[in-house]
Amino acid sequence: MPTEAAATTAIQEAPSGTRYFPVPLEAIDNCVLEMDLYLKTGVRETIVLYRGIGVPFNEEHRERLAEQKITFLYVPMHQHKAYRRMLTQRLDKVFHDPQMKREERTRIVRASCERMVEEAMLFPDPGMAVAGVSDISEQFSAWMAEGSEEFSYLLDMSAHDFYTVTHMVNVGVGCGLLARELRPDEPELHQQFILGGLLHDIGKRGIPEAVLNKEGRLTPEEWLLIKAHPLKGYKMLTATRSVPEAVLEMTRDHHEKLDGSGYPAGLRGDDIGLAARICAVIDVYDAISAQRPYRGPTPPRETLRIMGEAPGQHFDPVILQIWTDIVERLLEQDASRAVPDGKEPSNLTLDGLVQDAPVNVVGIATDAPVRKEGADRRVYPRFDCNVPIKARFIWQGKQYRSLKGGTLTVRAKDISRGGMLIEAGVALTLNDVLELELPGLKGTIQKRFVRVVRIRRSSEERWEAGVRFIASRPVG
Ligand SMILES: [Fe+2]
Ligand SMILES: [Fe+2]
Repeated sequence: MPTEAAATTAIQEAPSGTRYFPVPLEAIDNCVLEMDLYLKTGVRETIVLYRGIGVPFNEEHRERLAEQKITFLYVPMHQHKAYRRMLTQRLDKVFHDPQMKREERTRIVRASCERMVEEAMLFPDPGMAVAGVSDISEQFSAWMAEGSEEFSYLLDMSAHDFYTVTHMVNVGVGCGLLARELRPDEPELHQQFILGGLLHDIGKRGIPEAVLNKEGRLTPEEWLLIKAHPLKGYKMLTATRSVPEAVLEMTRDHHEKLDGSGYPAGLRGDDIGLAARICAVIDVYDAISAQRPYRGPTPPRETLRIMGEAPGQHFDPVILQIWTDIVERLLEQDASRAVPDGKEPSNLTLDGLVQDAPVNVVGIATDAPVRKEGADRRVYPRFDCNVPIKARFIWQGKQYRSLKGGTLTVRAKDISRGGMLIEAGVALTLNDVLELELPGLKGTIQKRFVRVVRIRRSSEERWEAGVRFIASRPVG
C-alpha cells in the first residue's frame, strides 16, 4: 500500500489520460502563471483546475492553500518546461534574497533541487528528467561563478539523512566545488561535473526504496540489483540526446577503484577518467558522512581520515587531497555548518558498529577477493570488548574437520566497523568462514558472517584470529 505522502507526490493520471506532476507549494513563485495549476479535491481526490495560465498567483493564495493543508499542486506534464523556467527564476530570487536568513534560503533551494532530482528518478521520460536536472546544473554553475561562498552552503555537511535524492544534490554540489578548484577557468566543465554529480545514481531508478535504505545485509539478488545501477544509468543517459561525455563517465564509472576492485568493469588506475575519479571521492565522502537509519552522521574530518586510510587503493590521492583542502577551508570559514568533530557518532556501540560493518570504505563484498598481503587491514578505530560469542563454521579449511558445521564459543577481544579480533580454543584456518552471533542492544542478536584473515597463537591452548565482516552492501 502506498503511503499518504507517496500518493501525494507521485505523478497523477486523470481519467482523460492527462498526466500531472506534483509541485510543492513553496516552489511556486508569486507571478503571472505560465502554466496551469491543479489541485486534488473531494474524497475521491479528483484533479481540478485551480488557476490557469495568465492568472496571477501571490502570497495570499499561498497562505489560503496552506491553511487548507494543501502542500502540493499539480501541473500537466506537457507544461514541464514552463514550470522549470519559473522554478529556476524563483530559486535565483530566493538565493539572492537579502531579507531571508541564509539557513532559510539554503533550505528552500535545496528542497526544490531535491524535488527536481526526485522527478528525474520518477519521470517516465528520462529525456525530460535530464532536461530538468540540466537546468539545476546550469543554475548551480552560475551561482558558483559569482565567486561568493554562498554556493558552498548548498553542500549539506550537517546531519543529513542518506537517501538517494539528498545524496545526489550533495554529490552535484561537491563535484562542482572540486571542478572549480581543479580547472578554475572552465565554467562549461564545472556545469558538466555538477550535472554528472546530480545524475550519477540515476540508474537507481526503479530500485525499491526498501532495498536502497535496507538496514543490514543485502541478499545476493538485492546486491546484484544495486550493482547494476552504474551501467543501467549509463544506458539510460546514452539513450538521451546531448548528454556530455563527462556525465556518462561519472555515471558509469563512479564505483570503479584505482586498484581494480571496483565495479562494473574493474577498471584500474589511468583507465578511470578524471570525471569518475572526482565523482568517486565526493560520492563516498557523502555516503560516509551522512546519517543512516542505524547510525549517526560522521563528522567531516573523521570521514576524510577514514577515506585516507588506504591510499591509492580506492581514490586518486591528489583529488582526495584537494577535496580535503576544500573541506578544511569551508570548516575554517564556518565550523557551525558541519557536524562537530571530536564527538563520537551517536551509536558507536557494539550494535551500531556491527550494523555499520558493511559500509566499509575498503569495499568488502561477498565476491571480493581475500587480500593475503598485509593481513590486518582494518582501517577503523577498534573498540575493546570481552564478550563470549557463539560461532558456527560455514566453511572450514584444512584443520579441525570434525568441527565442520559445528558450533563453538569464541571470545571477542575487539571490534571495528570492518572486523573483529576473536580468541578461540581451536586454531582457525585462513579463509575459514564463520557465522557469529553478536550481542546487540536490548538483548538482540546480530548474525554476521566473517572470514578469517589473520591467525596467531596467544597461549598454549588459545589462538587469536583477525576476522573481517563479509558483507554485500555498497558505499554510495
Ligand atoms: Fe552509485
Ligand atoms: Fe552515489
